[in-house]
Amino acid sequence: MFDYDKEKTASEEKIAGVADEKLLEAFRIEYLGKKGLIAAMYSNLGALPGEQKPEEGKKINEFRAVIAQLIEKKKNELTAKKRQTTQKKLDVTIPGVSRQVGHAHILTQTINEICGIFERLGFGIQDGPEIETEFNNFTALNIPSDHPSRDGFDTFYLKQSDPTDKKINLLLRSHTSPTQIRIMKENKPPIAVVVPGKVYRPDAVDASHSFMFHQIEGLLVDRNVRFSDLKGLLTVFLKRLFGEEIKMRFRPHYFPFTEPSAEIDISCYICGGKGCSVCGRNGWLEIMGCGLVHPKVFSSVGYPKGKYSGLAFGLGVERMAMLRHGIGDIRIFYENDLRFLNQF
Ligand code: DAH
Repeated sequence: MFDYDKEKTASEEKIAGVADEKLLEAFRIEYLGKKGLIAAMYSNLGALPGEQKPEEGKKINEFRAVIAQLIEKKKNELTAKKRQTTQKKLDVTIPGVSRQVGHAHILTQTINEICGIFERLGFGIQDGPEIETEFNNFTALNIPSDHPSRDGFDTFYLKQSDPTDKKINLLLRSHTSPTQIRIMKENKPPIAVVVPGKVYRPDAVDASHSFMFHQIEGLLVDRNVRFSDLKGLLTVFLKRLFGEEIKMRFRPHYFPFTEPSAEIDISCYICGGKGCSVCGRNGWLEIMGCGLVHPKVFSSVGYPKGKYSGLAFGLGVERMAMLRHGIGDIRIFYENDLRFLNQF
């Protein structure tokens, strides 16, 4: 026989000493567990004479309800206490944890900066597809079919999905100049656009070559565009990008799609023209190609002969970024190494 009143007092004393969830669980097991006191009480019932059973069973039930209540009450107390102590720990004077916010890749920054300069000069920004036709990439730009850069070695050609379709050869554009053709075909002059984008060449990868890199193409077409306009425009652009103090020179060059053509050098940004390892000790850096749009290019887009003239230019984004920031290896742009990227 159990003395329920005594057991009740004992349990109340016991639970008063329960200070955490672990002890509370031990308390629960002691009373309500499979081998706990209440289970023992029930199994004891069987040995009692029949008439005492209902009375005794009722007492056990009541005792079990008391225990359940004690546990519930303690549980609430413990949660309330926990909440209080964690609230006390909140020290609003501790400096917050600052979150790291990402930023644009250095190549994107360079593209944005360069395009921004032309935008403020009234140019629009466009893009064109990376998969181009052989016609746009070469033929329309007056690059003859026996020109060495047409060779499979200099351009990634795509396998034709339809072998009967022999007329349209597709490739990964090897420069952004084919976008000139698309823009002129779709628009009447005046035209003033810059076109940033990826270009592809099957070069072996080394410190200065990558099979994919970025270019920015420029095109301005109107009536009476002269070489002096080209010179003036690109002088303003390069001084804004590299600083007023740089010196520039236009060197005669050859591009099939411009006539006359020139390459622009700027005085070495690193040594100021004295000669260093970056400029190959001659004080000048080759920075971009340019020229006046070749009449054959105008005729390939269907412009009437002699009506318009235009200027065009093209530059390599990686090269610009490398020169401006003293970066010695092109591969680092594509490696996603945060120690590099975080510097910009
Ligand atoms: N497309 C030339 C290249 O990839 C760069 C270039 C030179 C573009 C002169 C031009 C230009 O528009 O006028 O090397």
